[in-house]
Amino acid sequence: MKHLAERARQVIPGGVNSGQRSIPGLTDLVITEAAGARFRDSQGREYVDYHAAFGPPLLGHNDPDVGAAVAEAGRTVDLCGVGVTAGEVELAETLAELVPSVEKVLLTSTGSEATFHALRVARAATGRRLVVKFQGCYHGWHDAVSLNVISAPEKVGTHDPISTGILPEVLEATLVLPFNDEQAVRRAFAEHGDDIAAVILEPVPHNVGCLLPEQEFLRTLREECTRAGSVLIFDEVITGFRHHLGGWQAISGITPDLTTMGKAIANGYPVGALGGRADLMELFSSRPGGPAFFAGTYNGHPAVVAAALATLRKLREEPVHEHVFRLGERIRTGLAEVFASLDIPALVSGYGSVFVGYFMTGPARTYDDLLRNDANMFIGYRRRLLEHGIFELPLNLKRSHVSYAHTDADVDHLLESAATAAELARGDVLDLTGASTMGGADAHR
Ligand SMILES: Cc1ncc(COP(=O)(O)O)c(C=O)c1O
Repeated sequence: MKHLAERARQVIPGGVNSGQRSIPGLTDLVITEAAGARFRDSQGREYVDYHAAFGPPLLGHNDPDVGAAVAEAGRTVDLCGVGVTAGEVELAETLAELVPSVEKVLLTSTGSEATFHALRVARAATGRRLVVKFQGCYHGWHDAVSLNVISAPEKVGTHDPISTGILPEVLEATLVLPFNDEQAVRRAFAEHGDDIAAVILEPVPHNVGCLLPEQEFLRTLREECTRAGSVLIFDEVITGFRHHLGGWQAISGITPDLTTMGKAIANGYPVGALGGRADLMELFSSRPGGPAFFAGTYNGHPAVVAAALATLRKLREEPVHEHVFRLGERIRTGLAEVFASLDIPALVSGYGSVFVGYFMTGPARTYDDLLRNDANMFIGYRRRLLEHGIFELPLNLKRSHVSYAHTDADVDHLLESAATAAELARGDVLDLTGASTMGGADAHR
């Protein structure tokens, strides 16, 4: 019988259902089982999973409490596409209670839909054209934000779309600035302030690993947006619930006007959310007469709402954050020691449950700093970790995650394996095609 991966390539472009799931060197990966901190493939290989599907399963794969809540929802309600369910009300109340900026909230199925609608309503509210984003931040697949994530060095400072097929006028309406650079923000507002509808950012740019935000930078964004009447959007799709139940805004004390959420909110079930100031949220057409059209057949689906409620309940009631923060810290400290003992230049960054070992010297404040990262070593090290049954996504600059299901023994195994993997990776010379920048736009230029 043909291998499933081969059959997949016959009928699915590239054999996978999302960009960056097909990994050079691992194109035959067929997942057959996932539980806790591990997944298995069709060849019987088992991996300790630090990739974590780009971030959702903070409790671990197939969490039994979340699964039970979903099953229970399936026995009682179903999607009816009219009115509201008790679960949706409870989830909205919970989000309003937990997340400082959220006065009202709407549910979507994905993070991309949440950021799309955040920008739409910002333009609706302000009547303005421009959106500001930051080099290295990812906000989903839609046109306004599909640019300047993992850019090649020569593309930094230019518009660098991650896709073809986007109208140039849409790309031109997005200004791209360097992260953690308040002078660049002040200049942009001085020049274009009257026409800036929104500033959108990952408060911690985790789509390039982990650049920690400087408090002065976040304060400047808040100040300039307030002064110019622009909408400040924190995209907390990764940071929300994972770093704090109230997101990075609860940690930093800087409150945005709108917040987008997803990923860890429902431990892997498809839920996104957009919440914020009531006057902005009331512009959506879920309120009759609201001018900003908002819809989605699956929004607020009872099964995924049940998953979100069960996830948030467990995050509140059990010492999840305490556990993942402790293991995350052990890994960051341990890896820094391993690389130092081998005289390998490395900077281990991260926060809480997130870690990433860059192979470079010096600080990581902005995307420009990350251009010093040795991509060959970064990817090679992770390919070598696979030989130890450890999965950290072997693509340049990707972050790794710890879940509630990971144990101290898993961390011991990672730290022991890291030394061998790093030592061997030092000698590897790789073909980095498809593993070092993001998007396919280059191929068509
Ligand atoms: C910060 C951030 N925002 C938005 C998105 C888009 O979310 P989704 O993939 O659920 O559409 C992602 C996805 O990785 C993300 O990391």
